[in-house]
Amino acid sequence: MTIIVTGGAGFIGGNYIHYHLKEHPEDRVVCVDKLTYAGNLSTLAPVMDNPNFRFVKLDICDREGVMKLFEEEKPDVVINFAAESHVDRSIEDPGIFLQTNIIGTATMMDACRAFGNVRYHQVSTDEVYGDLPLDRPDLFFTETTPIHTSSPYSSSKAGADLLVMAYYRTYGLPVTISRCSNNYGPYHFPEKLIPLMIANCLNDKPLPVYGEGKNVRDWLYVEDHCKAIDLIVRKGRIGEVYNVGGHNEMANIDIVKLIIKELGKSEDLITYVTDRKGHDLRYAIDPTKIHNELGWLPETKFADGIKKTIKWYLDNRSWWEEIISGEYQNYYDKMYGNR
Ligand code: NAD
Ligand code: DAU
Repeated sequence: MTIIVTGGAGFIGGNYIHYHLKEHPEDRVVCVDKLTYAGNLSTLAPVMDNPNFRFVKLDICDREGVMKLFEEEKPDVVINFAAESHVDRSIEDPGIFLQTNIIGTATMMDACRAFGNVRYHQVSTDEVYGDLPLDRPDLFFTETTPIHTSSPYSSSKAGADLLVMAYYRTYGLPVTISRCSNNYGPYHFPEKLIPLMIANCLNDKPLPVYGEGKNVRDWLYVEDHCKAIDLIVRKGRIGEVYNVGGHNEMANIDIVKLIIKELGKSEDLITYVTDRKGHDLRYAIDPTKIHNELGWLPETKFADGIKKTIKWYLDNRSWWEEIISGEYQNYYDKMYGNR
């Protein structure tokens, strides 16, 4: 089987490629990535020499380039991870989010249609459901929760999901969608909460907590997400949405304090900063459907996953130090300088 994985030089796509080549060494994996600020070839270094792996630098919005690649590779499956993924950046500049997340999705699906209705999986997010109140721990997102977005990022992902379902109904394209909660683990770009706090802690820099730090996220170890996607692609029902999450809700401030403790630093590093605009209060996934239909359950407990993740950042300093020493510094100053 030949599988095109878009966004494979990013956090989850990169982890997925490592997972797929380990679990299904007989498959050919073709990674398509534009290498934006979030794409890192060093994430793929361990598989670059694998004869069943090919890297192609390509924008998923480049229709001609995408069609040419499909002609060459004749893929059996496409998994679309490629996206602009950071909420804060979408608040600063929404345009590129609409381009990559919506137009890019349509371009990949048009290529799937043009080459014999190739099986297509869309990697979406729980953020399409908006947020839940902090004082109703009994409420969870199910697959039938209405789409109700807050940020330009989540709106662009919701727009893409609507297109995916439209291609299923209108053209019969064999699609599935997964909507996962917050991931953490190796190769996570340091603009996001957990790697940012680990990197700042290690550099004894202030830890910028938005608002009061009470917002809740539902954390899942990235490899558990990869397993869920692989299961959906192989055994999921066509035309269906599957929520993915492990019932691991935590307030941001508790995550930050845990990282501080693990690294033996002081809570004096915590700095409360101006809140994110439109900040979603709480995400919480109900994963009953994927559990009942496909037997998926998360395998990594947060207590173990966060230790493994911190150890990875300690053992792979060059991976993230290279990132934060470059253009990232300008981003950081702009986002946090006067906050
Ligand atoms: P990321 O920002 O780490 O990686 C995105 C990758 O896509 C990068 O390698 C980037 O170069 C590439 N890319 C961006 N624009 C492109 C384009 N036009 N053409 C080709 N490649 C392009 O993102 P991530 O955190 O790994 O997220 C991957 C997917 O999973 C996204 O679709 C995101 O919406 C979704 N998701 C993320 C999380 C999370 O917690 N990180 C949770 C649920 C869903
Ligand atoms: O829920 C899935 C989503 O999770 C994905 O779709 C997104 O691509 C991914 O980026 C993530 O979005 P969040 O906005 O939840 O993740 P982020 O790491 O940016 O922020 C997590 C929480 O931490 C959020 O409540 C904001 C807060 N935060 C974040 C940063 C970067 C801080 O308090 N300080 C920070 O410096």
